[in-house]
Amino acid sequence: MDTTDEWIVERTGIKERRWIDPATDDMPSTMGTKAAKKAIENAGLKPSDIDFIIFATLSPDYYFPGPGVQVQDLLGIPEIGALDVRNQCSGFIYGLSVGDQFIKTGMYKNILLIGSEYHSGGLEKSTRGRGVSVIFGDGAGAVVLSRSEKKDKGILSTHLHAEGKHAKELALIGPATNRWVDTIMKENDPNDTSYYPYMNGNFVFKHAVTRFQEVIFEALKENGHQPNEIDMLIPHQANLRISQFVQKKLGLEDHQVYNNIMRYGNTTAASIPIALSEAHLEGKIKDNHLVCLAAFGSGFTWASALIRW
Ligand SMILES: CC(C)(COP(=O)(O)OP(=O)(O)OC[C@H]1O[C@@H](n2cnc3c(N)ncnc32)[C@H](O)[C@@H]1OP(=O)(O)O)[C@@H](O)C(=O)NCCC(=O)NCCS
Repeated sequence: MDTTDEWIVERTGIKERRWIDPATDDMPSTMGTKAAKKAIENAGLKPSDIDFIIFATLSPDYYFPGPGVQVQDLLGIPEIGALDVRNQCSGFIYGLSVGDQFIKTGMYKNILLIGSEYHSGGLEKSTRGRGVSVIFGDGAGAVVLSRSEKKDKGILSTHLHAEGKHAKELALIGPATNRWVDTIMKENDPNDTSYYPYMNGNFVFKHAVTRFQEVIFEALKENGHQPNEIDMLIPHQANLRISQFVQKKLGLEDHQVYNNIMRYGNTTAASIPIALSEAHLEGKIKDNHLVCLAAFGSGFTWASALIRW
């Protein structure tokens, strides 16, 4: 495609990204399982301690069933429930919110939450598709949510929003029920782009910068905090320019915001758990820190979570 490193870095901040080697049998389910094994081990648990699975992705191995059940099989956990979340870039926080409610009601004790994406196989790798295809990377991340008796710790609140009138501004229209494979094959139109992701980039950008701020303030207000009290903001890694804009508007210092889009591109539902994991491993998230997660994406959907670590 006709593009340059300079254009990509200037507009998106992306220097590197990871794409699955098609020669391997990596898939969202298998990558998610690798991340899940690490998360379970880091939590000091065994797969058999997990009593529910939540899997967020927009790029499932199959049209149906979703990959939650495949993870259950790959981890060898017998017959627990598995839920698939379809909220794209906000998918991880939507999943976190669902898991949080299940834990707070006492229904489950240890929930495995995965975000995993295989974008590279489905992008339009041509000049026509360059506005979308230069941004997205493959990846997976996972966390284990566990019940704790410490009342002032853990997930303080989650905030979920959607505005469906903008569904087509960032979407993959077909093949799906709306535009089934039969139609695509019958038309056999070389100019058909319906089976590639479409993004109205400028429109998405403008909405993202507003919604990120709104939903972060909503979480802070709900818990009586100010932006300067955030120890670590982990925004969904959509575009470095979006994160920087939000950081400036909130008046946050560099050490209060974690970005790794430079190394991975936009990995949709996987971006927050990957960033959370790296920030934690690098010692940037410490006991008692106030951690804020925020996301915006296709739907449009947007969401935040405030966590006392
Ligand atoms: C996608 C995005 C980087 C494009 O940047 P932009 O400044 O809006 O660029 P535009 O789409 O207006 O295109 C500007 C020019 O660059 C060109 N261009 C687009 N993609 C290009 C690429 N990969 N390489 C080189 N040129 C490119 C366009 O053709 C256009 O050329 P023209 O002015 O001659 O017509 C930006 O809109 C964005 O980041 N949007 C939000 C994306 C996002 O966060 N998505 C995920 C949400 S979860």
